[in-house]
Amino acid sequence: MTRKRVAILISGRGSNMAALIEAAKEADYPAEIALVVSNRPEAAGLARAETAGIATAVVDHTVYGKDREAFERALQAVLEAHRIDLVCLAGFMRLLSPSMVERWHERMLNIHPALLPAFKGLDTHRRALAAGAKTHGATVHLVVADMDSGPIVLQESVPVHEGDTVETLSARVLEIEHRIYPRALRLLAQGRVRVVDGRCLIDCQAGG
Ligand code: GRF
Repeated sequence: MTRKRVAILISGRGSNMAALIEAAKEADYPAEIALVVSNRPEAAGLARAETAGIATAVVDHTVYGKDREAFERALQAVLEAHRIDLVCLAGFMRLLSPSMVERWHERMLNIHPALLPAFKGLDTHRRALAAGAKTHGATVHLVVADMDSGPIVLQESVPVHEGDTVETLSARVLEIEHRIYPRALRLLAQGRVRVVDGRCLIDCQAGG
């Protein structure tokens, strides 16, 4: 089995990154975490990745000012230098241009802390509470040019309890994020995710 080489893009604490790194230690995992890239030099996840022995890189977007193309060229160069096959966005707080997304067509995943297509964008837990949602959750999807709109690979729900705060709800959601992201990456790396009419079909036949 040739394991797919994966880069994880982060901007912050990197708890989903850590879950992916942990999962990829399994002998039969079809992907290896070859690189962690942050657009923020101070991201706490960088130190976590280094401790885990993973190569890290910083592509600081502030260096490029408003020149998003230049930022993405630098990012792409790092990904190519590390011969990356698949990219996982994990709390990466930059929007990527349509051409960058196109380059990674069906090879780039994102995790979003809500049950898409509900609550796209930021601040999902506060908005779910304000809406009185009784169920909330997390979604792993393929990245397309429209934010939080790509074909859904996996999602899982959690109940919203009376008295929940953003903190208690986000902690409950984070637990399932850490479970579904490694599963979704496994499926993609095994070539078991097929997009038909904008929706993901998961091939249940091939292996486990
Ligand atoms: C997670 O809630 C993820 O769903 C969202 O950003 C947060 C990142 O957290 N996209 P972490 O850096 O993985 O801990």
